[in-house]
Amino acid sequence: MTDPGERLRQSLTADQSVGAEFDSPIAAEAMRATRVLHAADQEPFPAPGRIRVITVANQKGGVGKTTSTVNLGVALAMYGLRTLVIDLDPQGNTSTALGVDHTVGTPSIYDALIGDATLAEVAHATTASPHLRCVPATIDLAGAEIELVSVVAREHRLRRAIEAYLREQPPELQPDYVLIDCPPSLGLLTLNALVAGDEVLIPIQCEYYALEGLGQLISNIDLVRAHLNPGISVSTILLTMYDGRTKLADQVADEVRSHFGDLVLKAVIPRNVRVSEAPGYGQSVLTYDPGSRGSTSYVEAARELAERGSRLEPRTPPPPPPPAPSVAALVLGEPVTTRGLTGRHGS
Ligand SMILES: Nc1ncnc2c1ncn2[C@@H]1O[C@H](COP(=O)(O)OP(=O)(O)O)[C@@H](O)[C@H]1O
Ligand SMILES: [Mg+2]
Repeated sequence: MTDPGERLRQSLTADQSVGAEFDSPIAAEAMRATRVLHAADQEPFPAPGRIRVITVANQKGGVGKTTSTVNLGVALAMYGLRTLVIDLDPQGNTSTALGVDHTVGTPSIYDALIGDATLAEVAHATTASPHLRCVPATIDLAGAEIELVSVVAREHRLRRAIEAYLREQPPELQPDYVLIDCPPSLGLLTLNALVAGDEVLIPIQCEYYALEGLGQLISNIDLVRAHLNPGISVSTILLTMYDGRTKLADQVADEVRSHFGDLVLKAVIPRNVRVSEAPGYGQSVLTYDPGSRGSTSYVEAARELAERGSRLEPRTPPPPPPPAPSVAALVLGEPVTTRGLTGRHGS
Protein backbone atom coordinates (compact mmCIF):
# COMPACT_ATOMS: atom_id res chain seq x y z
CA MET A 1 0.00 0.00 0.00
CA THR A 2 1.27 3.46 -0.89
CA ASP A 3 2.32 5.48 2.11
CA PRO A 4 -0.49 7.97 2.88
CA GLY A 5 2.08 10.74 3.27
CA GLU A 6 3.17 9.99 -0.29
CA ARG A 7 -0.44 10.10 -1.44
CA LEU A 8 -0.83 13.49 0.16
CA ARG A 9 2.27 14.71 -1.63
CA GLN A 10 0.89 13.31 -4.88
CA SER A 11 -2.42 15.05 -4.28
CA LEU A 12 -0.54 18.31 -4.03
CA THR A 13 1.57 17.81 -7.16
CA ALA A 14 0.01 20.86 -8.73
CA ASP A 15 1.51 22.88 -5.89
CA GLN A 16 4.93 21.30 -6.32
CA SER A 17 5.10 21.98 -10.02
CA VAL A 18 4.36 25.60 -9.20
CA GLY A 19 7.30 25.61 -6.76
CA ALA A 20 9.81 24.81 -9.51
CA GLU A 21 8.94 27.88 -11.53
CA PHE A 22 8.53 30.25 -8.61
CA ASP A 23 11.46 30.22 -6.29
CA SER A 24 9.93 31.79 -3.17
CA PRO A 25 7.11 30.29 -1.10
CA ILE A 26 5.09 33.50 -1.43
CA ALA A 27 5.40 33.49 -5.22
CA ALA A 28 4.38 29.82 -5.32
CA GLU A 29 1.37 30.48 -3.10
CA ALA A 30 0.36 33.46 -5.22
CA MET A 31 0.53 31.25 -8.30
CA ARG A 32 -1.65 28.60 -6.65
CA ALA A 33 -4.11 31.30 -5.62
CA THR A 34 -4.27 32.59 -9.19
CA ARG A 35 -5.03 29.10 -10.46
CA VAL A 36 -7.93 28.63 -8.04
CA LEU A 37 -9.28 32.16 -8.47
CA HIS A 38 -9.23 31.87 -12.23
CA ALA A 39 -10.75 28.42 -12.23
CA ALA A 40 -13.22 29.52 -14.88
CA ASP A 41 -10.39 30.11 -17.37
CA GLN A 42 -8.99 26.65 -16.81
CA GLU A 43 -10.10 23.27 -18.03
CA PRO A 44 -13.54 22.69 -16.40
CA PHE A 45 -14.16 19.49 -14.49
CA PRO A 46 -15.89 16.79 -16.55
CA ALA A 47 -19.67 16.56 -16.17
CA PRO A 48 -21.01 13.47 -14.41
CA GLY A 49 -22.57 10.64 -16.43
CA ARG A 50 -25.77 11.27 -14.45
CA ILE A 51 -26.96 13.78 -11.87
CA ARG A 52 -25.21 12.81 -8.65
CA VAL A 53 -27.04 13.18 -5.35
CA ILE A 54 -24.36 12.74 -2.70
CA THR A 55 -25.15 12.50 1.00
CA VAL A 56 -22.27 13.60 3.21
CA ALA A 57 -22.70 11.58 6.39
CA ASN A 58 -20.88 10.49 9.52
CA GLN A 59 -22.72 10.55 12.81
CA LYS A 60 -19.57 11.74 14.57
CA GLY A 61 -19.45 15.51 14.96
CA GLY A 62 -16.42 17.53 13.97
CA VAL A 63 -15.06 15.18 11.30
CA GLY A 64 -15.35 17.66 8.43
CA LYS A 65 -18.81 16.96 6.96
CA THR A 66 -19.79 20.60 6.72
CA THR A 67 -16.33 21.79 5.69
CA SER A 68 -16.16 19.14 2.97
CA THR A 69 -19.69 19.79 1.69
CA VAL A 70 -18.99 23.52 1.44
CA ASN A 71 -15.55 23.33 -0.13
CA LEU A 72 -16.28 20.47 -2.51
CA GLY A 73 -19.47 22.28 -3.54
CA VAL A 74 -17.62 25.51 -4.21
CA ALA A 75 -14.80 23.71 -6.07
CA LEU A 76 -17.23 21.80 -8.31
CA ALA A 77 -19.12 25.01 -9.07
CA MET A 78 -15.99 27.11 -9.68
CA TYR A 79 -14.84 24.51 -12.18
CA GLY A 80 -18.06 24.70 -14.13
CA LEU A 81 -20.38 22.09 -12.59
CA ARG A 82 -23.80 23.27 -11.43
CA THR A 83 -24.14 22.33 -7.79
CA LEU A 84 -26.93 22.48 -5.24
CA VAL A 85 -25.86 22.25 -1.61
CA ILE A 86 -28.55 21.29 0.90
CA ASP A 87 -27.92 22.11 4.56
CA LEU A 88 -29.68 19.48 6.63
CA ASP A 89 -28.13 20.36 9.98
CA PRO A 90 -30.20 22.67 12.22
CA GLN A 91 -26.96 24.39 13.24
CA GLY A 92 -26.84 25.88 9.74
CA ASN A 93 -23.04 25.89 9.52
CA THR A 94 -23.09 25.13 5.80
CA SER A 95 -25.37 28.10 5.22
CA THR A 96 -23.03 30.32 7.28
CA ALA A 97 -19.96 29.20 5.36
CA LEU A 98 -21.67 29.90 2.05
CA GLY A 99 -22.76 33.34 3.25
CA VAL A 100 -26.46 32.46 3.02
CA ASP A 101 -28.81 33.96 5.59
CA HIS A 102 -30.32 31.39 7.93
CA THR A 103 -32.00 33.44 10.61
CA VAL A 104 -35.39 32.23 11.83
CA GLY A 105 -38.02 32.94 9.20
CA THR A 106 -35.67 32.57 6.20
CA PRO A 107 -37.21 30.18 3.66
CA SER A 108 -35.24 27.00 4.30
CA ILE A 109 -35.03 23.24 4.00
CA TYR A 110 -37.52 23.00 6.88
CA ASP A 111 -40.26 24.51 4.68
CA ALA A 112 -39.45 22.05 1.91
CA LEU A 113 -39.53 19.06 4.27
CA ILE A 114 -42.86 19.90 5.82
CA GLY A 115 -44.31 20.66 2.40
CA ASP A 116 -44.83 24.42 2.72
CA ALA A 117 -42.44 25.25 -0.15
CA THR A 118 -40.66 23.63 -3.05
CA LEU A 119 -36.91 23.20 -2.99
CA ALA A 120 -36.63 25.70 -5.85
CA GLU A 121 -38.38 28.30 -3.68
CA VAL A 122 -35.91 27.86 -0.83
CA ALA A 123 -32.68 27.55 -2.86
CA HIS A 124 -30.60 30.73 -2.54
CA ALA A 125 -27.87 32.08 -4.81
CA THR A 126 -24.35 32.22 -3.34
CA THR A 127 -21.56 34.71 -3.85
CA ALA A 128 -18.93 31.97 -4.30
CA SER A 129 -20.10 31.01 -7.81
CA PRO A 130 -23.06 31.60 -10.11
CA HIS A 131 -23.15 27.81 -10.51
CA LEU A 132 -23.69 27.21 -6.80
CA ARG A 133 -27.02 27.39 -4.99
CA CYS A 134 -27.64 26.61 -1.33
CA VAL A 135 -30.74 25.54 0.54
CA PRO A 136 -30.12 26.88 4.05
CA ALA A 137 -31.11 25.33 7.37
CA THR A 138 -32.57 27.42 10.17
CA ILE A 139 -32.95 26.40 13.77
CA ASP A 140 -36.58 25.45 12.91
CA LEU A 141 -35.12 22.25 11.54
CA ALA A 142 -34.33 21.12 15.08
CA GLY A 143 -38.08 20.58 15.55
CA ALA A 144 -38.47 18.71 12.28
CA GLU A 145 -37.15 15.41 13.67
CA ILE A 146 -40.12 15.38 16.03
CA GLU A 147 -42.70 17.02 13.75
CA LEU A 148 -41.99 14.63 10.91
CA VAL A 149 -42.54 11.52 13.02
CA SER A 150 -46.28 11.57 12.44
CA VAL A 151 -46.12 12.69 8.81
CA VAL A 152 -46.92 10.36 5.91
CA ALA A 153 -43.79 8.92 4.26
CA ARG A 154 -41.67 10.74 6.80
CA GLU A 155 -38.42 9.19 5.61
CA HIS A 156 -39.08 10.09 1.94
CA ARG A 157 -39.67 13.84 2.34
CA LEU A 158 -36.28 15.01 1.12
CA ARG A 159 -36.18 12.52 -1.74
CA ARG A 160 -39.54 13.74 -2.99
CA ALA A 161 -38.47 17.38 -2.70
CA ILE A 162 -35.30 16.71 -4.72
CA GLU A 163 -37.16 14.66 -7.34
CA ALA A 164 -39.66 17.49 -7.80
CA TYR A 165 -36.79 20.01 -8.08
CA LEU A 166 -35.05 17.95 -10.76
CA ARG A 167 -38.32 17.53 -12.66
CA GLU A 168 -39.14 21.22 -12.56
CA GLN A 169 -35.79 22.84 -13.33
CA PRO A 170 -35.28 23.72 -17.00
CA PRO A 171 -32.36 21.81 -18.59
CA GLU A 172 -30.00 24.80 -18.37
CA LEU A 173 -30.52 24.96 -14.60
CA GLN A 174 -30.36 21.23 -13.84
CA PRO A 175 -27.67 20.61 -11.26
CA ASP A 176 -24.82 18.22 -12.00
CA TYR A 177 -24.30 17.68 -8.28
CA VAL A 178 -26.58 17.78 -5.24
CA LEU A 179 -24.62 17.63 -1.98
CA ILE A 180 -26.47 17.06 1.30
CA ASP A 181 -24.77 17.96 4.58
CA CYS A 182 -26.09 15.77 7.43
CA PRO A 183 -26.30 16.52 11.13
CA PRO A 184 -24.05 14.53 13.50
CA SER A 185 -26.64 11.87 14.37
CA LEU A 186 -28.45 8.95 12.79
CA GLY A 187 -31.92 10.39 13.31
CA LEU A 188 -34.76 11.09 10.92
CA LEU A 189 -32.93 13.91 9.11
CA THR A 190 -29.95 11.71 8.25
CA LEU A 191 -32.36 8.93 7.31
CA ASN A 192 -34.08 11.35 4.90
CA ALA A 193 -30.70 12.16 3.39
CA LEU A 194 -29.85 8.48 2.95
CA VAL A 195 -33.19 7.82 1.28
CA ALA A 196 -32.68 10.87 -0.96
CA GLY A 197 -29.11 10.15 -2.07
CA ASP A 198 -27.60 7.83 -4.64
CA GLU A 199 -24.20 7.90 -3.01
CA VAL A 200 -22.77 8.46 0.43
CA LEU A 201 -19.54 10.39 0.96
CA ILE A 202 -18.05 9.73 4.39
CA PRO A 203 -15.46 12.20 5.66
CA ILE A 204 -13.08 10.54 8.12
CA GLN A 205 -10.89 12.59 10.39
CA CYS A 206 -7.31 11.32 10.66
CA GLU A 207 -7.49 11.18 14.46
CA TYR A 208 -8.01 8.74 17.32
CA TYR A 209 -11.24 6.71 17.12
CA ALA A 210 -11.63 7.61 13.44
CA LEU A 211 -13.38 4.34 12.64
CA GLU A 212 -15.53 4.32 15.75
CA GLY A 213 -19.21 4.31 14.87
CA LEU A 214 -18.58 3.68 11.18
CA GLY A 215 -19.91 0.12 11.53
CA GLN A 216 -23.23 1.49 12.71
CA LEU A 217 -23.35 4.01 9.86
CA ILE A 218 -22.60 1.30 7.29
CA SER A 219 -25.22 -1.05 8.73
CA ASN A 220 -27.80 1.76 8.63
CA ILE A 221 -26.90 2.39 5.00
CA ASP A 222 -27.35 -1.37 4.37
CA LEU A 223 -30.78 -1.28 6.02
CA VAL A 224 -31.81 1.72 3.93
CA ARG A 225 -30.59 -0.03 0.78
CA ALA A 226 -32.51 -3.20 1.63
CA HIS A 227 -35.80 -1.50 2.41
CA LEU A 228 -36.06 2.12 1.35
CA ASN A 229 -33.53 3.10 -1.31
CA PRO A 230 -31.97 0.27 -3.35
CA GLY A 231 -29.82 2.81 -5.21
CA ILE A 232 -27.76 3.99 -2.23
CA SER A 233 -24.16 2.97 -1.61
CA VAL A 234 -20.98 4.39 -0.12
CA SER A 235 -19.08 5.72 -3.11
CA THR A 236 -16.47 7.98 -1.56
CA ILE A 237 -14.36 8.28 1.56
CA LEU A 238 -12.47 11.52 2.17
CA LEU A 239 -9.62 11.72 4.68
CA THR A 240 -9.76 15.06 6.47
CA MET A 241 -7.63 17.02 8.94
CA TYR A 242 -4.52 15.04 8.05
CA ASP A 243 -1.53 16.16 10.05
CA GLY A 244 1.61 14.95 8.29
CA ARG A 245 3.74 15.58 11.38
CA THR A 246 2.07 12.79 13.35
CA LYS A 247 2.53 9.06 12.92
CA LEU A 248 -1.07 8.63 14.02
CA ALA A 249 -2.45 10.37 10.93
CA ASP A 250 -0.55 7.93 8.71
CA GLN A 251 -1.76 4.96 10.74
CA VAL A 252 -5.38 6.09 10.52
CA ALA A 253 -5.08 6.78 6.79
CA ASP A 254 -3.55 3.32 6.27
CA GLU A 255 -6.29 1.62 8.26
CA VAL A 256 -9.03 3.47 6.35
CA ARG A 257 -7.45 2.56 3.01
CA SER A 258 -7.13 -1.10 3.97
CA HIS A 259 -10.82 -1.14 5.01
CA PHE A 260 -12.28 0.82 2.13
CA GLY A 261 -9.76 0.42 -0.72
CA ASP A 262 -10.55 2.39 -3.84
CA LEU A 263 -13.50 4.19 -2.25
CA VAL A 264 -10.94 6.44 -0.55
CA LEU A 265 -10.01 9.50 -2.59
CA LYS A 266 -6.28 9.84 -3.25
CA ALA A 267 -6.52 13.52 -2.37
CA VAL A 268 -6.24 14.04 1.38
CA ILE A 269 -7.31 17.22 3.17
CA PRO A 270 -4.56 18.49 5.47
CA ARG A 271 -5.24 20.19 8.76
CA ASN A 272 -4.96 23.84 7.77
CA VAL A 273 -5.88 26.85 9.84
CA ARG A 274 -7.21 28.77 6.82
CA VAL A 275 -9.89 26.07 6.40
CA SER A 276 -11.18 26.70 9.91
CA GLU A 277 -10.98 30.50 9.61
CA ALA A 278 -12.94 30.77 6.37
CA PRO A 279 -16.50 30.14 7.73
CA GLY A 280 -16.03 33.07 10.14
CA TYR A 281 -15.98 35.29 7.06
CA GLY A 282 -18.96 33.56 5.45
CA GLN A 283 -16.64 31.98 2.91
CA SER A 284 -15.20 28.73 1.65
CA VAL A 285 -11.44 28.34 1.91
CA LEU A 286 -11.27 28.55 -1.90
CA THR A 287 -12.49 32.12 -1.84
CA TYR A 288 -10.98 33.10 1.54
CA ASP A 289 -7.42 31.92 0.85
CA PRO A 290 -7.27 30.33 -2.59
CA GLY A 291 -3.54 29.58 -2.48
CA SER A 292 -3.64 27.74 0.87
CA ARG A 293 -3.05 24.00 1.16
CA GLY A 294 -6.62 23.61 2.36
CA SER A 295 -7.94 25.24 -0.78
CA THR A 296 -5.78 23.36 -3.27
CA SER A 297 -6.43 20.02 -1.60
CA TYR A 298 -10.20 20.54 -1.77
CA VAL A 299 -9.83 21.42 -5.46
CA GLU A 300 -7.90 18.18 -5.98
CA ALA A 301 -10.51 16.15 -4.07
CA ALA A 302 -13.30 17.74 -6.14
CA ARG A 303 -11.41 17.05 -9.35
CA GLU A 304 -11.08 13.38 -8.41
CA LEU A 305 -14.76 13.21 -7.46
CA ALA A 306 -15.70 14.75 -10.81
CA GLU A 307 -13.42 12.43 -12.78
CA ARG A 308 -14.96 9.40 -11.11
CA GLY A 309 -18.41 10.85 -11.77
CA SER A 310 -17.68 11.29 -15.47
CA ARG A 311 -17.30 7.52 -15.73
CA LEU A 312 -20.77 6.80 -14.32
CA GLU A 313 -23.42 5.37 -16.60
CA PRO A 314 -26.83 7.05 -16.84
CA ARG A 315 -29.09 5.47 -14.24
CA THR A 316 -31.68 2.87 -15.10
CA PRO A 317 -34.68 3.10 -12.77
CA PRO A 318 -34.08 0.89 -9.70
CA PRO A 319 -36.59 -1.84 -8.84
CA PRO A 320 -39.23 -0.74 -6.34
CA PRO A 321 -38.23 -1.43 -2.73
CA PRO A 322 -39.89 -4.45 -1.11
CA PRO A 323 -42.54 -3.66 1.51
CA ALA A 324 -41.07 -3.76 4.98
CA PRO A 325 -42.24 -3.47 8.57
CA SER A 326 -41.64 0.15 9.61
CA VAL A 327 -38.07 0.33 8.43
CA ALA A 328 -37.69 3.84 9.72
CA ALA A 329 -38.37 2.39 13.15
CA LEU A 330 -35.70 -0.27 12.61
CA VAL A 331 -33.13 2.28 11.46
CA LEU A 332 -33.97 4.73 14.18
CA GLY A 333 -34.00 2.02 16.83
CA GLU A 334 -37.65 2.63 17.76
CA PRO A 335 -39.95 -0.19 18.86
CA VAL A 336 -41.18 -1.94 15.71
CA THR A 337 -44.87 -1.41 14.93
CA THR A 338 -47.01 -2.82 12.16
CA ARG A 339 -47.63 0.60 10.59
CA GLY A 340 -45.24 -0.11 7.72
CA LEU A 341 -47.21 -3.22 6.68
CA THR A 342 -50.01 -1.05 5.37
CA GLY A 343 -48.02 -0.11 2.27
CA ARG A 344 -47.28 3.41 3.48
CA HIS A 345 -43.85 3.39 1.88
CA GLY A 346 -45.26 3.30 -1.59
CA SER A 347 -47.54 6.25 -0.91
N1 LIG B 1 -8.87 20.59 7.14
C1 LIG B 1 -9.15 21.28 8.25
N2 LIG B 1 -8.18 21.99 8.88
C2 LIG B 1 -8.45 22.68 10.03
N3 LIG B 1 -9.65 22.73 10.60
C3 LIG B 1 -10.66 22.05 10.02
C4 LIG B 1 -10.47 21.29 8.81
N4 LIG B 1 -11.65 20.72 8.48
C5 LIG B 1 -12.53 21.10 9.41
N5 LIG B 1 -11.96 21.90 10.34
C6 LIG B 1 -12.60 22.50 11.51
O1 LIG B 1 -13.04 21.45 12.36
C7 LIG B 1 -14.30 21.74 12.93
C8 LIG B 1 -15.31 20.65 12.57
O2 LIG B 1 -15.50 20.61 11.17
P1 LIG B 1 -16.96 20.49 10.52
O3 LIG B 1 -16.80 20.49 9.07
O4 LIG B 1 -17.88 21.50 11.13
O5 LIG B 1 -17.37 19.04 11.04
P2 LIG B 1 -18.80 18.32 11.07
O6 LIG B 1 -19.68 19.00 10.06
O7 LIG B 1 -18.50 16.89 10.72
O8 LIG B 1 -19.32 18.45 12.46
C9 LIG B 1 -14.70 23.10 12.39
O9 LIG B 1 -14.34 24.07 13.34
C10 LIG B 1 -13.87 23.27 11.14
O10 LIG B 1 -13.58 24.61 10.84
MG1 LIG C 1 -21.55 19.88 10.35
